[in-house]
Amino acid sequence: MAIRDIVLIGDPVLTRTSEPVAGITEDIVRLARDMVETLHAAPGVGLAAPQVGVNKRLIVVDVSVGEDPDALHILVNPEIVTREGEAVCEEGCLSVPDIKEKVVRPYRVVVRGLGLEGRPVEVEAEDLAARAFCHEIDHLDGILFVDRLSALKRKLIRRKLKKSAASAKTP
Ligand code: NI
Repeated sequence: MAIRDIVLIGDPVLTRTSEPVAGITEDIVRLARDMVETLHAAPGVGLAAPQVGVNKRLIVVDVSVGEDPDALHILVNPEIVTREGEAVCEEGCLSVPDIKEKVVRPYRVVVRGLGLEGRPVEVEAEDLAARAFCHEIDHLDGILFVDRLSALKRKLIRRKLKKSAASAKTP
């Protein structure tokens, strides 16, 4: 296993629609395991393959951040099949450093996909876990959480990101 570099906002890999995983090869298993390690090291609660530069439909979600093995979900070709309720909560993204904003998400979702053994998996998630699944599946469609904010909020965030990029360049 290895920790991979996390791609940041501005990279086109984050705005593309990712391809379905055609078969669970050794490369896919290695990618998934690296993503788990990268997620736990970050630390974060979810990571999608485009965030490590791979436009494939693969996500990892772990709201326990490595504390509870039962909370870790690795899903290939995930799809939300049920959405219920609504929740507003602050959200961030490992690809959008230092930005946190309130985003509306369903309170409960049912997600279907394949596990790494190739068997169908169905996960029921609520609250933070539901939010994480929605956020990560958005990544597979080239959508960042900031894209779900108002035009004004997006403008302010763009300005803030530009400023922090400029200050990173000047010592
Ligand atoms: Ni994200």
